[in-house]
Amino acid sequence: MKPSTMRVGLLGISILGISLLHYLTPLHLHYLHDIFQRLYYLPIILAALWFGFRGGLCCALAISMAYAPHILFQWGGGLTMEMEKYLEIVMYNVVGAVTGLLAQRERERSLELQRTAEGLVESYSKLQTQSERIIMIEEQLRRSEKLSTLGEMAAVLAHEIRNPLGSIRGTAEILRDDYRPGEPKYEFIEIQIKETERLNHVVEDFLRMARQQPMALRDCSIREELETIVTLVAKDAQNRGISLRLEPNTEQALIKGDGEKLRQAFLNIVINALQATPSGGSVRIDCQRNESGYEIRFIDNGSGIKTNERTKIFEPFYTTKPNGTGLGLAVTRKIIEGHYGSLEIESDPGKGTTVSVKLPLQEHIP
Ligand SMILES: Nc1ncnc2c1ncn2[C@@H]1O[C@H](COP(=O)(O)OP(=O)(O)OP(=O)(O)O)[C@@H](O)[C@H]1O
Ligand SMILES: [Mg+2]
Repeated sequence: MKPSTMRVGLLGISILGISLLHYLTPLHLHYLHDIFQRLYYLPIILAALWFGFRGGLCCALAISMAYAPHILFQWGGGLTMEMEKYLEIVMYNVVGAVTGLLAQRERERSLELQRTAEGLVESYSKLQTQSERIIMIEEQLRRSEKLSTLGEMAAVLAHEIRNPLGSIRGTAEILRDDYRPGEPKYEFIEIQIKETERLNHVVEDFLRMARQQPMALRDCSIREELETIVTLVAKDAQNRGISLRLEPNTEQALIKGDGEKLRQAFLNIVINALQATPSGGSVRIDCQRNESGYEIRFIDNGSGIKTNERTKIFEPFYTTKPNGTGLGLAVTRKIIEGHYGSLEIESDPGKGTTVSVKLPLQEHIP
């Protein structure tokens, strides 16, 4: 039963009960009648509190109708003799209406307060998400500032380094022709060529970061890019004795993006995974769609990353590898953020690492 029906029932029963007391109590016990007369205020006030102005007034009217015949027929109904009882009837209606009105107003006020409180909670949470966004953007800004000053320096340096490097490499190759493989000097020149190549790589990586090339957004399929990467590094993985696999349930994931840049980003992640994984280990790649976008995961069971290193690995030049430049993840993150995505790393030292790239769906891009 609904609570309001129960309340109406309760009021009805109490009115009926009090009226019966009036009608059945002998008239000479007038002090009892005085008490019963006042008892009527209880249902009136309750009705006013529960149902407001209309409830209070209706209840008072019902009581007036139940009580009036008692005055008229049992007490004789004389206007002057029973004046006090008639006045009481008027009072019932006044009390019902006024109490009802006050209760109603109080209820409206508390509803309004509740609405204000809800509004406050909402604006507070809005404020909180906004301030979180500001903190995030500020951090991004700081990072890109760092990268762009680095980039400018790099552009100048790279220019100065590249040409002499080309000459060193060229002359070394000419010199190498004078020796046969196996001779010690041949080996030295090989080292020289390899090292110049490595330097050239560093410079190129640097330049890539320096040139703030605009993204060339085209329709591209993430699955296709991942397939290309797997083909590219399959040989390397095989040499290392690592099983490299693109999961069969990988989404096609058609997005608007710069395929070339994304491929470079994914390649950096895969190479890192291969470098961290010992022979016999595995690197798995998959891409799933969820309500906010695509999540591309690179799961390796390699060395993992220590907790205190996890924030540093995105810094330019942070590397733990003897031949690393430490630019891989910095470049990768920049590319992913250029696609309004994010890069997350979960790692269990000694057990493995999962790198997740999250890219938003087209319709979620601002
Ligand atoms: N999958 C991984 N497992 C374990 N460590 C990782 C993984 N990916 C990255 N790291 C750590 O993060 C560091 C930074 O990676 P990043 O790709 O930026 O540079 P790098 O691989 O050292 O050098 P580069 O990529 O320029 O050749 C790595 O040196 C390595 O310590
Ligand atoms: Mg790397």
